[in-house]
Amino acid sequence: MTRYKIKDPELTRRRFINMAMGATATVGTVSLLGTLGGAHPVFRLTEDKKPPMEGDILVHADPAKEGTPITMAELSETQVTAWPMGTDADGNQIIRKGEPNNLLALYRYPAGTLSGEAVIEATIDGEVVAYSDICTHAGCPVPDAKDGTGMFCPCHSGQYSPTEGGIVAGGPPPHKLAQLPIVAEGDSIKVSGFFLTHPYPYTDDATWEATKQAAEEA
Ligand code: FES
Repeated sequence: MTRYKIKDPELTRRRFINMAMGATATVGTVSLLGTLGGAHPVFRLTEDKKPPMEGDILVHADPAKEGTPITMAELSETQVTAWPMGTDADGNQIIRKGEPNNLLALYRYPAGTLSGEAVIEATIDGEVVAYSDICTHAGCPVPDAKDGTGMFCPCHSGQYSPTEGGIVAGGPPPHKLAQLPIVAEGDSIKVSGFFLTHPYPYTDDATWEATKQAAEEA
């Protein structure tokens, strides 16, 4: 005997809504991961690609002495470039240069020089300050200006003031260089936390927050 199912219109409507919501959630998740992945591979973070992490030691980025810990005595008002160096789960030292945007710039000024948006609590004795050395416009490394007037990006003439918290002093950069909190340990310099604001290539705090969380959980 053939049985006929009686279609309940309300049941059909609910089933349709549930299916639609499920599809929307899936698309949303894929979209979010795609967005995060496009800005930064947050879900594939390896030790060499993590951003500077608390406890990392700052080492020279200059090829002539790459990997050598930077000492306080080596710092001055002339930029010293650095990589953060951490350790993996087995205790091996890892220079986090798998992510080129981890390049850092270090300066040491006489006490009282730093001002503006510089976060003094994140410096060593109000004298040593660290920034992301990657231009927030299009990601070029930013050396010192040849005439000694701060930092000058050679790609499109962006200018930054390292004595005022890395603020934009000219050109097209959309926002300042991120300051990295540091502390002294003996004669070495250590990272004491994540960048205080979002560094390049991030354009908003939300994506940067997601990356910080991914780095802590990886
Ligand atoms: S990349 Fe630095 S100003 Fe364009």
